[in-house]
Amino acid sequence: MLLAGTVVADPDTVIDDGAVVVEDDTITAVGDESTLVDRYTDHERREFGIVAPGTVGGHIHSVQSLGRGIADDVALLDWLEEYVLPMEAGLGPDGTRLAAELGYLECIESGVTTVIDHLSVHHAEEALSAAVDSGIRARAGKVLMDTNAPDGLRQKAEHGLAETEALIWRFHGADGGRIRYAITPRFAVTCTEECLRGCRDLADEYDGVRIHTHASENTDEIAVVEERTGERNIAFLDEVGLTGEDVVLAHCVHTDEDERELIAETGTHVTHCPSSNMKLASGIAPVEDYLDRGVNVALGNDGPPCNNTLDPFTELKQASLLAKVDALDPTAVDASTALRMATLNGARAAGFEHVGALREGWKADVLGIDTDHTRATPLHDPIGHLVFAAHGDDVAFTMVDGDVLYDEGAGGHRTLDAER
Ligand code: GUN
Ligand code: FE
Repeated sequence: MLLAGTVVADPDTVIDDGAVVVEDDTITAVGDESTLVDRYTDHERREFGIVAPGTVGGHIHSVQSLGRGIADDVALLDWLEEYVLPMEAGLGPDGTRLAAELGYLECIESGVTTVIDHLSVHHAEEALSAAVDSGIRARAGKVLMDTNAPDGLRQKAEHGLAETEALIWRFHGADGGRIRYAITPRFAVTCTEECLRGCRDLADEYDGVRIHTHASENTDEIAVVEERTGERNIAFLDEVGLTGEDVVLAHCVHTDEDERELIAETGTHVTHCPSSNMKLASGIAPVEDYLDRGVNVALGNDGPPCNNTLDPFTELKQASLLAKVDALDPTAVDASTALRMATLNGARAAGFEHVGALREGWKADVLGIDTDHTRATPLHDPIGHLVFAAHGDDVAFTMVDGDVLYDEGAGGHRTLDAER
């Protein structure tokens, strides 16, 4: 297939009148359409306003998709205790599968091609199977909670870790490596030291498995951890082995100088979730500070109940706008930086190689974006357009690993039409 249009190959590279050639699961050429079109005459040609890399949802909760709108205008700990954890506890296998499917469909149709997904304590195999079937690229795992959690969701550490290990065997590396496992302790508030150390031991045992957790999102959360351990949250996580190049920490809103240094020194990945941090009034994460220290910062929508949408374009905008108003500096998190967080940085955090840009030899995770509307006229700056003006609804075409998962012109989702 040859995808023609204004090609945003990566956060620094735009090719006007460009084209991307895809063969099987791989991008085999990127360049000017005029030169490529003669070389690939037998390829189906599709044309879009912008051809862009698929984005990476660096922290989502697909299984919270049925909980959109159940907990608006509440802060984190009450939000969890009164609404979100009871909702997760009430999900049976069918509900978990349905929620995950809806989450992945929303991601795919709005331009997310890779996710780092925090599932739930029970029925994670249903969500992981939904990820396999959906065609999305996913780093996902079942949630561990062994303290401070409601009956029905609390499991002994040993039990949760044994279930985790069985899921690693079944799903890690599934579908040619498109699905990879993330050991997922919910956060330090609901996990004992035994559980967290067990997560580290398990991650060390299995090649390519990562750890994904929430950290320092909210000041009350940090106070609970400090009360129990006598330590700042990130310092505690570091002590029990939950920092490092195989660890993704969602949020990291409230961190002190020592914690930021720890994150940087250990190569720990951070996922910034600006809309969620605004909606739950958690705070403003020091994104520019992390980036200045060399921390790999990805971008995530978090769950539907803390954001109400999985549209990555919302996050791109919010990441940039929030940083600018926080620093009173219009250059803070510029469009290119925001796009980098949502693509290359996200892929690095998720641990997928050759994902996050349109380059020869890289994975064919590609978006076709409609610009045939007044908002995109004139298209002075395609990267600025993607970050500040585009919506998930503008995504007309989504390809993952060379498979067309969504094609507006051909009726929508692949998974909703078995004939295609
Ligand atoms: N911290 C622990 N669990 C959660 C969750 O489900 N969502 C968010 N945003 N933060 C959390
Ligand atoms: Fe979250």
